[in-house]
Amino acid sequence: MKALILSGGKGTRLRPLTYTGAKQLVPVANKPILWYGIEAIVRAGITDIGIIISPETGEEIQKKTGDGSRFGAKITYIHQDSPDGLAHAVKIAQPFLTDSPFVMYLGDNLIAEDLDLYLQDFKEKQLDALILLRKVSNPTAFGVAKINEKGEVLELIEKPKNPPSNLALVGIYFFSSAIHEVINHLKPSARGELEITDAIQSLIENKKPVSAQELKNWWLDTGKKDDLLEANRIILDTNLTADYKYEITDNSQIIGRVKIGKNTTIINSTIRGPVIIGDNCHLENCFIGPYSSIADNVHLSEIDLEHSVILKSAEVKGIEQRIVDSVIGQRAKIHFVPKRPKALSFMIGDDSQIELT
Ligand code: DAU
Repeated sequence: MKALILSGGKGTRLRPLTYTGAKQLVPVANKPILWYGIEAIVRAGITDIGIIISPETGEEIQKKTGDGSRFGAKITYIHQDSPDGLAHAVKIAQPFLTDSPFVMYLGDNLIAEDLDLYLQDFKEKQLDALILLRKVSNPTAFGVAKINEKGEVLELIEKPKNPPSNLALVGIYFFSSAIHEVINHLKPSARGELEITDAIQSLIENKKPVSAQELKNWWLDTGKKDDLLEANRIILDTNLTADYKYEITDNSQIIGRVKIGKNTTIINSTIRGPVIIGDNCHLENCFIGPYSSIADNVHLSEIDLEHSVILKSAEVKGIEQRIVDSVIGQRAKIHFVPKRPKALSFMIGDDSQIELT
């Protein structure tokens, strides 16, 4: 059994963060989203992993993630010149996959459950495809499955205008080598991509064994800001254990589950968990509220923050109002001094969003 993780694509929905970086490397609780997928795959006993990368962000992914040894796996990077679809990614990975069955994992997806039970089901039933489904309130944003009362998959439609159900396709699929044959005969869809939904649909039409399972627990496609914040909230809620070794300076207070990295100084501040703070940060006169993740080298002073993600080397100073539901990109700077400014001066990148409420 092998694994294929799709980590190419353009990541337009997380702009501006993804102008300068891969969306799969955006951190959730200070760990790249992609790494959660790799770890889940390795926990399921699969260590031969191919990762699809794009010309724009591939180098960064490869540099950060390495050869797989840190995960106990062997990673092969596969270059996809342009994002021509999920099935196209499988097509170019054929020399890596050969005739092995494989799990295909979209690099921006996160699920709560382990993969073992699904993998076992896929193997025991000798399926050609096992798909995972989850009820959602906005099915038009996903691939959607129509199933009958026995739970058999009748039809799959990619981002339908009139969804036949509210069962979205989760970005984790199990395939036998039969998928290659149908992909070789696939034509691009109306949006010009080779769709994996069309490939699975062909398996169904050819009466191949295709089955679906409904996920019992949460699933997040971290493509948008709110999904990213929600993923951050859930991971901090479920996975974070308190861990900090440093001398609390006068007047600082740490409450609840808080993890703090090396060489981080906290002066005259209150941190109320669950909160994760990286290495080499400086926090002074701050209140950091629940569900906040602060990456390495961040400087914060005179701020009140909650339910937010602050990326590496950002600097936020002197904001009187509470900052909530925010994602602040790498090296971004927000300085509001004095407390009631008469004028504001900005240098803000394309697609940035600032709400002064
Ligand atoms: O998240 C679940 C959804 O993922 C499914 O419900 C849909 O059926 C499926 O098509 C997919 O939809 P998205 O619109 O979310 O796909 P996206 O373009 O975001 O790509 C998903 C991942 O695959 C992402 O990490 C980028 C990578 N990718 C994408 C394309 C199109 C590639 O590596 N190569 C590609 O050509």
